Amino acid sequence: MTFARIAGTGGYLPERIVTNKDLEDIVDTSDEWIQERSGIKRRHIAADGETTSDMALVAARRALDSASLVADDIDLIIVATTTPDKVFPSTACIVQRLLEVKNIPAFDVHAACSGFIYALDIANRFIKTGGAKNVLIIGSETYSRILDWTDRGTCVLFGDGSGAVVLSASNNAGVISTHIHSDGEFEELLHVPAGISSGYETFQQEGAFIKMKGSEVFRRAVGTLGSIARETLEGNNVSQEDISWLVPHQANLRIIAAAAKKLGLPMEQVIVTVDEHANTSSASIPLALDVAVRDGRIKSGDLLLFEAFGAGFTWGSALVRY
Ligand code: COA
Repeated sequence: MTFARIAGTGGYLPERIVTNKDLEDIVDTSDEWIQERSGIKRRHIAADGETTSDMALVAARRALDSASLVADDIDLIIVATTTPDKVFPSTACIVQRLLEVKNIPAFDVHAACSGFIYALDIANRFIKTGGAKNVLIIGSETYSRILDWTDRGTCVLFGDGSGAVVLSASNNAGVISTHIHSDGEFEELLHVPAGISSGYETFQQEGAFIKMKGSEVFRRAVGTLGSIARETLEGNNVSQEDISWLVPHQANLRIIAAAAKKLGLPMEQVIVTVDEHANTSSASIPLALDVAVRDGRIKSGDLLLFEAFGAGFTWGSALVRY
């Protein structure tokens, strides 16, 4: 039987760092409030002209290097993003051109902050059914371009960045299970209310920015992450004591801590990057994974639980033997 395993990871964060103190000059907020309510200290913001595909390319090359593969070894590219370079072509096709690989499928997945888990689920199915041997999965976002920099309720929470993983065919189970869900009922709690086929005039004249009912999103995120973790552990007959590391989507330290508490995992076993990166949406899990692999915390053989929640609502998880 063929399984998928993580063969390499890579990450990229833009050079420019914006601290909470910097934001005090832009909106009515304070470093203390942001840290206390979200755990965020700073975030990276893309340079003028720096795109989602530019960042994806760097993360992809780093993931390929760490897998000891070259771009020509890849037979599928999936980019999870909510902030693509263009309406079309897909960011995945742009990354394909930049990597100079031809004739392989490349497409984007749009599942907001759960995008990386959705992409992992799809890539895992391709590998298990023999449709691909090496899949490049990238989560890449420039949320700074869809933030209303006058709205203190949202602009302090997000950042830009890119994380990538190479998933390769293996005889040993790396990806043990993936679980994805969505519920379109709650669209208006977290959305960008203007786009191409709806609200196009607003989109052209005023731009399109994130609107969020923060406390309601918070409540639903905590409840949903608790249930997806249970579903994942019970579905695999695994106890929380078997988990080496929780690698959660990085939206808010309080959401992460509540999810860890529900799981009965101490914070020492949780990978946290929200303090340094803020919420980078679909990039946050592969970025956190890459940080912890490179600093030596995550080691070969560790059992990892990924979990994410985002607009849609969408949510998902994966149990992975690294
Ligand atoms: N600085 C200072 N005060 C702020 C602020 C900021 N940046 N943003 C909001 N406030 C104020 C609000 O205006 C409100 O003031 P009021 O009581 O006078 O009306 C007060 O702080 C409390 O706001 P509330 O939204 O209830 O705070 P909260 O404890 O729920 O924390 C969030 C706010 C946004 C940090 C929190 O709700 C959250 O993280 N939600 C989930 C966000 C998320 O994860 N989204 C992405 C999902 S992938």
